[in-house]
Amino acid sequence: WLAIGTGSLVLFLLVTGVMAVAMGLNPPDGLATTIEPDQVEAQAPFDHPGLEQIGPNEYKATILSYAFGYDPNTITIPVGSTVHFEVTTKDVVHGLHVPGTPTNLMLVPGHIAEYSQTFNEPGEFLFLCHEYCGIGHELMYGKIIVE
Ligand code: CUA
Repeated sequence: WLAIGTGSLVLFLLVTGVMAVAMGLNPPDGLATTIEPDQVEAQAPFDHPGLEQIGPNEYKATILSYAFGYDPNTITIPVGSTVHFEVTTKDVVHGLHVPGTPTNLMLVPGHIAEYSQTFNEPGEFLFLCHEYCGIGHELMYGKIIVE
C-alpha cells in the first residue's frame, strides 16, 4: 500500500510538473491582464474606480480593493442589470464574493479579475472578501443595491 501511495504521489507531481513547465499552463484566464502592483492606482481604469453605465441595463463596475475595503463599496443598479466587474487589489491578495451568486473572484495585486453577473431580483447583495488578508479581513465588505 505504501508503494501505491508513494507511486501515485510521484505520478501526480510528474503530471503537475509536465503541465506547468512543458505545456505552459498558468493560473486562471481571469488573471490575464496585468498592471505593475505599485502602479495600480495611477493607471486607468483604477485611477477612477466606480460604476459606469455602458449600455441599456449594462454597467461596468471598476472596483479597487485594499486592506480593508473596496472603492467603491456601494453600487446601486436597476433590477435586470448586468454588471461587468473589473476588480484588482493594490496591496495583498483579497477576494470578492457575492454570496448566492456565481460571482467569486480572487484578487491578486496588479491582475485584473473580470466577471459578468445579471441581477434579476431586487434587494441588497453583500460582496465580501473571502481570502484571509489580515487583521481587518472580516470588516472587508461592500453592498450591491438592486432597485
Ligand atoms: Cu481582504 Cu480578506
